Amino acid sequence: MKISVIGAGNVGATCADVLAQKDIVNEVVLLDIKENYAEGKALDIWECSPVNYYDTRLTGSTNDYSKTANSEVVVITSGLPRKPGMSRDDLIETNAKIVKSVTEQVIEHSPKAKIIIVSNPLDVMTYCGYLAAKKPSNEVFGMAGVLDTARYRSFLAMELNCSPKDIQAVLMGGHGDTMVPLPRYTTVAGIPVTELVSNERLDAIVERTKKGGGEIVNLLGTSGWYAPGASAAQMAEAIVKDSQRIFPSCAWLDGQYGLNDIYLGVPTKLGRNGIEEIIELKLNDAEMELLHESAGHVKEVMGVLDNMNLF
Ligand code: NAI
Ligand code: 2OP
Repeated sequence: MKISVIGAGNVGATCADVLAQKDIVNEVVLLDIKENYAEGKALDIWECSPVNYYDTRLTGSTNDYSKTANSEVVVITSGLPRKPGMSRDDLIETNAKIVKSVTEQVIEHSPKAKIIIVSNPLDVMTYCGYLAAKKPSNEVFGMAGVLDTARYRSFLAMELNCSPKDIQAVLMGGHGDTMVPLPRYTTVAGIPVTELVSNERLDAIVERTKKGGGEIVNLLGTSGWYAPGASAAQMAEAIVKDSQRIFPSCAWLDGQYGLNDIYLGVPTKLGRNGIEEIIELKLNDAEMELLHESAGHVKEVMGVLDNMNLF
């Protein structure tokens, strides 16, 4: 079984490294447009195999999509990351063309692949990948919720000085400042978080989560990669193992939550068929309002893509 990762930059190479360490597939292919870049990253990761103990073979490729043929899952990370002062939406012009061209080439060689989009602006790039792939929407989806939820869980673990393993949470909406963390659905080893953390501190943690991507950009001068790469790898793992794990994914909505014709972050079940199910939570009025606000923002950026007339 093979997983391909397109874009061998910070997020793509980290995702390939994490996948190799999971030792769940025979081969991970890294592909990049920069000459010899993916080959170098793949070789470097493969040279870890005796130390980290895995058999997964790493293949690097400069734009030769035949190497990605018959992939079970393809993770698309190619595109520009944001710099300080930029929003994710500022990347649309460049990244839409990259995501379109990459997805078309991926599909030519792996028509059955489940596609996980990572490039930003995430929700709209997932829509772009969907239009380019011309596949059922359960086979094309985006990674953001796993990362945003991981940030939220890690901040709560810091607050409570407890293990992040014990924090369960779900987060919805677009990958941006309008994302919707849901304290009502957050538990710590089964205990509602609202019993353990004051409303004031919870509000501060929610705010930090919403701006979590920007916090890293300000520290590093580019966006993060360890948590994003690991998050995409976790989704790919759920698919190849057909494990039916429940993660927030950027999924195509067709009436769920009263929303239509939009890619947005919602709780999903992931398995061999990609998105096996979209889970509809019973949101209260305030939560539903926030979700619809977030959807409104994503729709605006989808409109920018539509106006580019790429499809
Ligand atoms: P990076 O600049 O380190 O890597 C991007 C790679 O894409 C580069 O190596 C570049 O050569 C390659 N590339 C560009 N055009 C290509 C093409 N046509 N074909 C193949 N490869 C191509 O950037 P980084 O940090 O890895 O971020 C990648 C993308 O992921 C960005 O758009 C970033 O905003 C996004 N991102 C999304 C997250 C999410 O939660 N969804 C989290 C973090 C980053
Ligand atoms: C992140 O959230 C910028 O989307 C990127 O780190």
